[in-house]
Amino acid sequence: MELTSVLNQSLTYINSFALRCAVGLNISGHIQAYGHPMPLNELARSIPISPEKDMMLGRLMALLVQKEVFAQDEAGCYMLTPFSNLLLTERSNMGAFTCFITEPAFTKHMCAMSEWFKDGEAGSTVCMAANNGKDIWDLFRENHELGNLFNEAMASRCKQQMGVFVKSYPHMFADLNSLVDVGGGTGTAVKIIANAFPMLRCTVLDLPHVVAKASKDDSFNVVAGDMLKKLPPADAFLLKNVLHDWCDEDCVRILKGCKEAIEPRKDGSKVIIVDIIQDFENNNAKATETGFLFDILMMCCHGAKERKKQEWHDLILAAGYSGYKIHPTQLGADCVMELYP
Ligand SMILES: C[S@@+](CC[C@H](N)C(=O)[O-])C[C@H]1O[C@@H](n2cnc3c(N)ncnc32)[C@H](O)[C@@H]1O
Repeated sequence: MELTSVLNQSLTYINSFALRCAVGLNISGHIQAYGHPMPLNELARSIPISPEKDMMLGRLMALLVQKEVFAQDEAGCYMLTPFSNLLLTERSNMGAFTCFITEPAFTKHMCAMSEWFKDGEAGSTVCMAANNGKDIWDLFRENHELGNLFNEAMASRCKQQMGVFVKSYPHMFADLNSLVDVGGGTGTAVKIIANAFPMLRCTVLDLPHVVAKASKDDSFNVVAGDMLKKLPPADAFLLKNVLHDWCDEDCVRILKGCKEAIEPRKDGSKVIIVDIIQDFENNNAKATETGFLFDILMMCCHGAKERKKQEWHDLILAAGYSGYKIHPTQLGADCVMELYP
């Protein structure tokens, strides 16, 4: 039993790479285009792969069916599942996240974790140790391909999250005139918010080389800036999957910066945080495990962390907010926190 567990745990990365392969071959797209359950040979011809690899493709599909990425009917033909629906490029394109997280230029950092524990300098991260002291944001700026993959991965997840978010929490944006999405990447979230709430003036703020890739769209403004410095004034600030990238000290600085930049006029002014709460009572086993995995990822990439309820409470109060509310979400491991200045 234990032997199987060790083998299984050690082999788990094969799941990630099988998924990466499915994305690379666009298997979801081929099954969708076929229009009904797809036999193996039809899938193989439509990718296309050479006929001597058909059986190997069948073995890849067997693993992916076992992981519920795809399903099979009684005749053994392949069908999409809710999982593979998320890989379709015209829907959420979550395969972009798979490709980024399994990209060798990125996974090489994870291989250096034990050396970093033993020899890493204080204040360095696993990524810094593996990249001559450069932090991950410098790495994304210099390695355009990796940086673009990261931006695309974030945008894909964002599209999926924001669709749910604006429908579930319309009240969150009521009575606001302006919102800044701090660390908002290439503007996916503000574009969705601006479309849903056309009266709201939306702005995305991110690093110069990131916002340079934002879509040219009249529905929102673009600011190249540094979230650790002065922020443009607004009624509301969104920090979505941002604070888990930063240590407590920097989080307090960012939250204080938002509070200072909130326009004084308004009832209803707020900061909205979307991030994992590790010990949130609504988390199911998958959300809990996802929280642990992201926590190690944040440790390696940023020297940062996912936080428990008490840790969020301490940060929010240390930044001087008068109160906050936590909303459970349909966003898996992520929760929404609404902070009042
Ligand atoms: C994990 S991503 C989250 C992106 C987006 N909020 C989302 O949910 O998809 C963090 C973002 O913070 C940006 N960032 C990092 N350091 C920053 C800084 N000093 N000032 C502004 N943005 C920064 C990164 O470029 C990246 O787009």
